[in-house]
Amino acid sequence: MKLGAYDYISKPFAPLDELRLFLRRMADKVRLVEENLYLRERSETETAVHGIIGNSTGIQHVLRLISRLKDTRTPVLISGESGTGKELVARALHFRGTMANLPFVAVDCGSLVPTLIESELFGYEKGAFTGALRSKSGLLQSADTGTIFFDEVGELPLEMQAKLLRFLQEKEVRPVGSNQKVKVDVRIMAATNRDLDTEYKKGTFRKDLYFRLNVVTISLPPLRERRSDIPILAAFFLERLAPGRGVQVSSNAMKALLAYDWPGNVRELENCLERAVALGDQRILEVGDLPPAIANAEVETHVPAAQEFSGRATDLEDIERATIERVFSQVKGDKAVAGKMLGISRATLYRKLKRYNIGARENPPQSTTLQ
Ligand SMILES: Nc1ncnc2c1ncn2[C@@H]1O[C@H](COP(=O)(O)OP(=O)(O)OP(=O)(O)O)[C@@H](O)[C@H]1O
Ligand SMILES: [Mg+2]
Repeated sequence: MKLGAYDYISKPFAPLDELRLFLRRMADKVRLVEENLYLRERSETETAVHGIIGNSTGIQHVLRLISRLKDTRTPVLISGESGTGKELVARALHFRGTMANLPFVAVDCGSLVPTLIESELFGYEKGAFTGALRSKSGLLQSADTGTIFFDEVGELPLEMQAKLLRFLQEKEVRPVGSNQKVKVDVRIMAATNRDLDTEYKKGTFRKDLYFRLNVVTISLPPLRERRSDIPILAAFFLERLAPGRGVQVSSNAMKALLAYDWPGNVRELENCLERAVALGDQRILEVGDLPPAIANAEVETHVPAAQEFSGRATDLEDIERATIERVFSQVKGDKAVAGKMLGISRATLYRKLKRYNIGARENPPQSTTLQ
């Protein structure tokens, strides 16, 4: 039994029927274990390799770009606000592609000490400067044949931008203090939360480098522009934070999550849920478990003062129409999210949209289909 036997049969043998039942139960159990293993493996690879969650058209577009680019050597610039998943996308591009077993080297341009960047990237020769006791190869060389990812590339000093550009043109590195050049072949990816388009026009980022890096851009939309991803992101993070416990989000808490603006994007959502799971009762996440700024984020429903309100039925309808209109445009016409924020069922929302003729103007019929 210790070695993993399912069960044992004791003598004298039980009647045949019992034995049959026993075997059937055992077969069921084996099947369940196998099924579970299969499901777990599948979800592990889906989240570990993908890891990019979202049904919004914005994220679906990003996923399509990733699958188109993952097996190429095309330079990719990933742009987006802080916490939108730029690094996640860079890693997916490399690790989901056919070159996944080749090196992936991430360089955080924002945290490199300016005076050391060159020797970090290009390496150095023994004696090139005080303290260089041995020769050391640089990050570009370690990434040879694979991918180098320049995170926060906008932070790179102009002087280093020139050196990087030269490397991209010549595909050779010359370690500091050496006069030997070494061929290096890497795929370039870069990420930025700054608007390099205006920066190169202002002269704070080199235009020629910008165009080399920006052969294809993947722009990650901020979370507030794809609120429909919030419920599935929340479920994903809750499962990761409290595996198997099935933590649910109360409908009021979900309303607050949907209404909040998320300046820190997905990372902020993840942190907020982590805090809530730590503080909450571990089963249902309530509004009270959310930080005040998020808990208080509510749909701005304008309630008229008493003197504005004459009590006619049409007033109520006006208020309802205005509220639905406001929410509807806040979520950019996403009916599933609008329904959740308003606290009404999808069917009710449809009825009201039709009655007030909302959405018909902005959305042509084909894009108002069910999601
Ligand atoms: N679509 C997504 N699905 C699942 N997790 C996500 C998604 N987007 C971001 N994350 C998670 O959010 C966190 C932040 O992502 P990441 O570090 O890639 O963002 P970033 O854009 O590089 O942020 P920063 O600009 O702050 O460096 C990570 O924990 C990441 O796993
Ligand atoms: Mg990052």
